Amino acid sequence: MAKKKIKINLAKPWFDRREPEAAYRVVKSGYLISGPLVEKFEREFAKKIGVKYAIAVNSGSSALLVVQQALGIGRGDEVIVPNMTFISTASSSLYLGARPVFADIEMKTYGIDPEAIVKRIANLPASRRKKLKAIIPVHYAGQSCDLDPILKIARKHKLFVVEDAAEAHLAEYNGRKVGGIGDIGIFSFTPSKPMTTGEGGMITTNNAELAKKCKLIRNFYDINKFQWHEFGFHFRMPETMGAIGLVQLAKLERAVAMRMSIAHRYTKELNKLGCIVTPYERTRKDINFQLYTIMLIPGALSIDRDKFIDELGLRGVQARLYYPCLHKQNVFKGMGRYNDNEFPNSIAFEKNALSLPIYPGLKNKEVNYVISSIQEIVKKYKT
Ligand SMILES: Cc1ncc(COP(=O)(O)O)c(C=O)c1O
Repeated sequence: MAKKKIKINLAKPWFDRREPEAAYRVVKSGYLISGPLVEKFEREFAKKIGVKYAIAVNSGSSALLVVQQALGIGRGDEVIVPNMTFISTASSSLYLGARPVFADIEMKTYGIDPEAIVKRIANLPASRRKKLKAIIPVHYAGQSCDLDPILKIARKHKLFVVEDAAEAHLAEYNGRKVGGIGDIGIFSFTPSKPMTTGEGGMITTNNAELAKKCKLIRNFYDINKFQWHEFGFHFRMPETMGAIGLVQLAKLERAVAMRMSIAHRYTKELNKLGCIVTPYERTRKDINFQLYTIMLIPGALSIDRDKFIDELGLRGVQARLYYPCLHKQNVFKGMGRYNDNEFPNSIAFEKNALSLPIYPGLKNKEVNYVISSIQEIVKKYKT
């Protein structure tokens, strides 16, 4: 009999009977638009993150758009973002007519480097410095970035801090959940995240006025039954997503614990190989391992990262770079001239990083298979 082909995906949602049942009940009820279950999801999510307000939307990218509009960011304004993140951290500003300003990452958390922010601000011409409105730090791979110095810089320059916690459900920084530390935060619920609603997002804040604005923007800025006061759009979360979100939220701690246990098995074995940098863990509570991202130490192997990914692919193991540098992306052409040497860390990351499969349903034998595949590749190519 032919041997079954091995295929280990990077990510998979963690569902049981309860998610389809919850969605089915909504469909059967006929009440599909945003309703009481989405409101309950918002209340419970706010409680979990430790904020006063949570506003559900239809994606993390919509959340980024809504919060920046609520903060008054618009035409001609400038927003500081890390040079290594998902596209919408930066492209959401473009949508509002504002300009993203890229700063390099640091090599522990892979979050935005506070020193690079200081340098970037200092090097901007005064006319542009005046237009700066916000910093959007990203908690990459579910690891909280170093927020204290970022908050300090923001206070000094009177900038808002929008936490992009799209990947960082439950991750903490100094004992507080991320997404509730800056002026406002956003989360994503796509299927690769520690909890999913299919598509979906959440805005979190302690600021009542901002929360009210976000609610209006997500619903066409309708202040009273078809009185469209300002510009808003349809960013509401459907009720089926709210129903699934409630089930997923109740499982979130367990999902993160399962990710953690897989991550620790990877780290223990990969650290022995001497050619791989494994993820930094400030404390166990500061990371949820939405991604398990490693870096190949330059020169330690005779193959490059792309070939390493190909070798894993040949063994049925999916791996990928999350994310390339943004300053070179065509979408940002005309947004300012950048030189590669302004971003030594994100360039090195782009060249050497890859993320490995991690999700709660990943079986022990599959984790072992990923590890042994890496051991095999390293043995073949170690210099
Ligand atoms: C860091 C980061 N920001 C923003 C987003 C956007 O979220 P969504 O895909 O839900 O629009 C993502 C999602 O992948 C992300 O990883």
